[in-house]
Amino acid sequence: MSARFIIKGGKKIAGTIDVRGSKNAALPIIAATVLTEEPCRISNVPRVLDVERMLSILERMGGVIKREGNHAVTIQNKNLDIEALKSDTVKQLRASILFLGPLLTRFGKVTMRYPGGCKIGARSIDTHLTALRDLGGHVRLGRKYFSVEFPEGTSPPSALTLKEFSVTATENVMMFLSSIPRTTCLKIAASEPHIQDLAKFLSKMGARIRGAGTSNVAIKGVRTLSGASHRIVSDYIEAGTFLLLALGTRGNVRIKNAPISQLDLVLKTLIANGARINLNERESVIETRGGIEDRDFTKIQILPYPGIPTDLQSAFGVLAAQTKGATLIHEPLYENRFHALKELTKMGARVKILDPHRALVYGPSKLKGVNGITIQDLRGGAALVIAALIARGTTILYNAKEVERGYEDIVGRLRALGADIEKV
Ligand code: EPZ
Repeated sequence: MSARFIIKGGKKIAGTIDVRGSKNAALPIIAATVLTEEPCRISNVPRVLDVERMLSILERMGGVIKREGNHAVTIQNKNLDIEALKSDTVKQLRASILFLGPLLTRFGKVTMRYPGGCKIGARSIDTHLTALRDLGGHVRLGRKYFSVEFPEGTSPPSALTLKEFSVTATENVMMFLSSIPRTTCLKIAASEPHIQDLAKFLSKMGARIRGAGTSNVAIKGVRTLSGASHRIVSDYIEAGTFLLLALGTRGNVRIKNAPISQLDLVLKTLIANGARINLNERESVIETRGGIEDRDFTKIQILPYPGIPTDLQSAFGVLAAQTKGATLIHEPLYENRFHALKELTKMGARVKILDPHRALVYGPSKLKGVNGITIQDLRGGAALVIAALIARGTTILYNAKEVERGYEDIVGRLRALGADIEKV
């Protein structure tokens, strides 16, 4: 049987919680280390399943990984054998696609297994492949494997427009272009904080990147990138998750290492709706004092950064179930990300799924503990953990491992806040 969380809800939540390094920054930065044969030291790496899987794929390729304590690694990729990209592990992790761009600069041709299936929508790797094709790459699609090749002498164009604001496609292209010794303009680039963090790392390796964090990025590559040392940015999604958890449970929580300026619209939306929050930007601390007034959100509009992130959509849904009136949740990005809201109805929430992209959540609802909540994806799982902490009685959530893909030691850290949660 899959691992379960058993949560007794209704306990007082209070205390301090530290935000760890960003998973979605660590993943491309680990991939970017293959751009050089020199050692790279990365600190503030979150100890989560997805990061462990990424490191293990790199190790199978021949990368040498030395760990220092729980959160730092030194990686040196001298002799790599990319046959390992055909293994099953690649299939388990969607982010394995991030090895494609940087490895192409080193090998010219990469054949790999299709990266993991996606439970939250029909995400394909099409944006990545179209971008590489537009840069002059030859793409071949097989049943189990696909390959991309840049024949000797390919001269990529000086401007590239992505098909959509794709986060990992932007990262793949930025890594690829960092080794091309000329300036390329990337348009319709995604701008999430993890992309900005990757740009900082690539700049330390020797590339010159202007505009990261906007939709127009200029990348001036160099033929030989060097090793670099980097501290991963704090995870704004983890900070946002803890914030919504604290407000939903009406807790008094001090969230440390919170990247406040990356949560502008999240904070504005919450504060405008009566959330009792103190912000200390200088010290990167967010404090909650007893929840959110019984106001009506009306609409939660999900958008690429700097909009309200899709990765917080489910947790906002849980909070909407605690506030008065109907909240429309508009999720334009994924077409299968309302699973957590559906599960929430088993706990007593009133939710109407209007279509794959819009849901109405009516509140306030008194949530009750239920044995038999299924976690489908990482962020939906975190939202259901929040719901179970709010609910009266015991909730048993199945497929706990999903949450561990992205939240380090979630059980230990929530217990330290007074939560009654265990994993069995
Ligand atoms: C990244 O995935 C993240 N993964 C995801 O994190 C995150 O949900 C997602 O970006 C969106 O922020 C990593 O960083 C490793 P996409 P990615 O290509 O790059 C649609 C987590 O739990 N879309 O940006 O694979 C697009 O078609 C996760 O940590 C539009 O419709 O995602 C796709 O269905 C899961 N229009 C979805 O959004 C646009 O303009 C995400 O696309 C842009 C995107």
